[in-house]
Amino acid sequence: MHLFDRKKELISFLQEERDKNHTVGLVPTMGALHQGHISLVKKALLENDLVVVSIFVNPTQFDKKDDLDKYPRNLDQDISILKDVSEKIIVFVPSVDEIYGSNIASKHYEFDGLDKVMEGEFREGHFNGVGTIVETFLRTVSPDKAYFGEKDFQQLQIIRKMVELRKLPFQIIGCPIEREPHGLAMSSRNERLSKPTRKEASFIYETLQTAKSKFGTESASSIAGWVKDEFKKNPLFELEYFQIADEDTLTPILKKQENKKYRAFIAVYADDVRLIDNLRLN
Ligand code: PAJ
Repeated sequence: MHLFDRKKELISFLQEERDKNHTVGLVPTMGALHQGHISLVKKALLENDLVVVSIFVNPTQFDKKDDLDKYPRNLDQDISILKDVSEKIIVFVPSVDEIYGSNIASKHYEFDGLDKVMEGEFREGHFNGVGTIVETFLRTVSPDKAYFGEKDFQQLQIIRKMVELRKLPFQIIGCPIEREPHGLAMSSRNERLSKPTRKEASFIYETLQTAKSKFGTESASSIAGWVKDEFKKNPLFELEYFQIADEDTLTPILKKQENKKYRAFIAVYADDVRLIDNLRLN
């Protein structure tokens, strides 16, 4: 396994690989790796000769300093997990200075409104930060394909939009959500939940599943009202938003249209930890 912390060295290594006609996959992460991340890495390994996994806790996508400070960091364990997955993995672990120099700031993107709803509404500047770092990694690695999880579905759509806007010649691959056995979507943040709360957090997925079963017969606003009531009854979780939206435009559903795909999106606080999840409805 190769490990790089400098862009220049990574680029020249990858150039040699490309000269041998090897294809390259990219999996950007912020570390604290779990099976959700590994599912992306495994898919990338099946479809490419080499896979670059970046591990970088990107400061510009955190709207709260406290959240950035508390973000779990576990580099030694991450490297050992990746070593066990495959020798074909190249780990890229740059410093903040290597990526941003003295100017730790985001670029501004026009995401056609994709950034104005849900996560964008509640996390100011978040998607400009994500766009900035993902564009940097894509341009540095020049992958054939880059892999992102549907766990962060809005992020996936925004990255697709950024790639289209910037006319980047890289294929963006969306990957399904990996869940803990009881249904909670895997996340680095789950580590910060107390044991009982983590166990009870299957409630989030169960609520999404019931919302899905209601979607055939009930209106979106009645489902949203039901979700709100369920959360009011549960003292462990605080609902930030629940939204049924068009998968492509992410605009909130007004009237169901037969030819459109809809998804339910949710953000919840548990033990002061912010969790997000989503589920395809039709
Ligand atoms: P991070 O939260 O570490 O996630 C890295 C990638 O793993 C993202 O594409 C995310 O959607 C995916 N992922 C996380 N949990 C998953 C799960 N349970 N199932 C499937 N995929 C999952 O997302 C980020 O980092 C950052 O915003 C990043 C894109 C790296 C930019 O900094």
